[in-house]
Amino acid sequence: MSVFPVILSQDKFVHRDSLKFPLEERALQFGDGVYEVIRIYNGKYYLFNEHVDRLYRSSKAIKIKLSYSKEKLKELLLELLNRNKMIEDGKVYMQISRGSAPRDHVFPEGVEPNIYAYVQSLPRNLSTIKKGVSVITHRDIRWENCYIKSLNLLPNLMAKQEAKENGCYEAILHQDGLVTECSASNVYLVKDEKIFTHPTTRNILHGCVRMAIERFVEELQIPLVEDAFLLNDISDADELFLSSSTSEITPIVSVDGHPVGDGKPGEITRKLQDAYEKDANIQENIIANA
Ligand SMILES: Cc1ncc(COP(=O)(O)O)c(C=O)c1O
Repeated sequence: MSVFPVILSQDKFVHRDSLKFPLEERALQFGDGVYEVIRIYNGKYYLFNEHVDRLYRSSKAIKIKLSYSKEKLKELLLELLNRNKMIEDGKVYMQISRGSAPRDHVFPEGVEPNIYAYVQSLPRNLSTIKKGVSVITHRDIRWENCYIKSLNLLPNLMAKQEAKENGCYEAILHQDGLVTECSASNVYLVKDEKIFTHPTTRNILHGCVRMAIERFVEELQIPLVEDAFLLNDISDADELFLSSSTSEITPIVSVDGHPVGDGKPGEITRKLQDAYEKDANIQENIIANA
């Protein structure tokens, strides 16, 4: 995954090699900050407003006041693509920390947040999106504010690593058998042509792709029930799928080594993938290539 050379640092555009953080940067010492990952198709941001809005919500939730308005931030992020002559599929990673100050748990006063954003190329992982993935299940040991896209990701990393060590793509997280989300994506169960997923409480990240799915199901007239499902419901599910900006909408075909439904991507998942491609203005079509 190549990183483009021009990055945004505060409100300046600089070469990526010139970015230097002081020792006492609060993101480095405390994970004291928030972030976003925004998908890019053909050099254009997808779900741009949703991501920027969530970034502001996350910042506000941990009492970081951004130095500029949403409109200004959007201008800077658009300019970042221009400066890099970015016209392909990729993503932007953007991070905001409380700033740099002598190490102290108490928030420093009068310190400007540190902001940076960089662009990476990211071709669509078509074979995975088409074929579907295997996942494991894992206890959700995160804190109670998972709606904040915080830099503190260690429990997510541990779960995803365990998935990888078991030859799987993701980990479905659960609290005493109640499914919240995955380590880096939202998760949905399909039963009798209805979709079930955890409500958007503090316990999960409110995914931007999920927001798009909420629009798609209205148009497709597929009921989406915001009711968390149980691990026990999975053995009886017709389909299972996950969503995120990097994974798009990906079928889950096996959980802990057991096939989901008939072990193939389901029809409702395919319809949503198709709606996603149309919404994101993607030319290549999974269904046509399936
Ligand atoms: C824990 C978690 N849940 C859900 C998502 C999906 O969010 P989005 O659709 O905005 O990419 C992510 C994305 O990184 C995530 O880390």
